[in-house]
Amino acid sequence: MRKMMLLNKSSPADPPPLCSICQHKAPLFGKPPRWFTYSELEHATSRFSQANFLAEGGYGSVHRGHLPDGQVIAVKQYKSASSQGDLEFCSEVEVLSCAQHRNVVMLIGFCVEDGRRLLVYEYICNGSLDSHLYGRNGHPLNWSARQKIAVGAARGLRYLHEECRVGCIVHRDMRPSNILLTHDFEPLVGDFGLARWQPEGNLGVDTRVIGTFGYLAPEYAQSGQITEKADAYSFGIVLLELVTGRKAIDINRPKGQQSLSEWFILIIRIEQARPLLRKSAISELIDPCLVNCCLEQEVRGMLHCASLCIRRDPNSRPRMSQVLRMLEGDVLVS
Ligand SMILES: Nc1ncnc2c1ncn2[C@@H]1O[C@H](COP(=O)(O)OP(=O)(O)OP(=O)(O)O)[C@@H](O)[C@H]1O
Ligand SMILES: [Mg+2]
Repeated sequence: MRKMMLLNKSSPADPPPLCSICQHKAPLFGKPPRWFTYSELEHATSRFSQANFLAEGGYGSVHRGHLPDGQVIAVKQYKSASSQGDLEFCSEVEVLSCAQHRNVVMLIGFCVEDGRRLLVYEYICNGSLDSHLYGRNGHPLNWSARQKIAVGAARGLRYLHEECRVGCIVHRDMRPSNILLTHDFEPLVGDFGLARWQPEGNLGVDTRVIGTFGYLAPEYAQSGQITEKADAYSFGIVLLELVTGRKAIDINRPKGQQSLSEWFILIIRIEQARPLLRKSAISELIDPCLVNCCLEQEVRGMLHCASLCIRRDPNSRPRMSQVLRMLEGDVLVS
């Protein structure tokens, strides 16, 4: 018996696959980030071939690849790298690779070589949330998938803010393109290239505002002051997108509806002022493809949660653990 336990200890079982359909091998937890050579990554991605090309993001291109042990990876290549600040980059990667959670995309390793910088993540098989909400694949997300995505992404963010051993990691760029999905619609919060480690008790004040228009908390946009409450704000906007199926900013909509948060606040105010005269705010806000296929109570819960997250005063926004409890239907926080 003792022998068996020792044997198990020295050869840990493979973690369960991330997606029940793809069955891709999940990376082992608890390992330090791996330092890859450029030629290893060239080999893994068939020389960054077109067939392995996934997307061009704001910072560079992303390719799929396979490691010799069977691990499927996504390799992110930074366009405008220089060897200046290599040390800072490496220590940043060390910190970010400590974030290991079911709902957080794992950073497996990196490559710094001849002025090149690449990050190696586990590959998540079913695209990003924005491609499902706004893509043209013709299969709108059903309500239970949206609910699952909201809860899972909230778990990922709660972990980064409140449970990570290296301290509070503020994401800084929470939005649907940085939430990746499996075919079971399990969400993983990704793209920590912009997150910074927040030492306890020290408010980060940054002169550069990093993030995406439409998701920026007012205090961050105005003064560059970044705390985890700015992520809560962005998460509130993501919740509104899940309910309404509308983009955070959509210049193709009529004036007054282009900013999702402003449109939402307006509709809620009108309903509060004239509750009996108007049709309910929910029927106006909800994604037309969800009408009659969702639970009104759950939609109300998600909208209530979103309204708390996007409050102007960062101190009155809930923490992600409170957000999660609300989304799971455990408590009503006012
Ligand atoms: N770990 C991953 N697994 C699978 N696909 C990924 C992974 N990381 C990124 N991608 C794909 O690459 C796309 C681009 O990602 P990337 O983070 O570079 O850009 P973005 O999020 O669209 O914009 P930005 O660069 O401004 O963050 C994603 O939308 C996704 O489709
Ligand atoms: Mg991204």
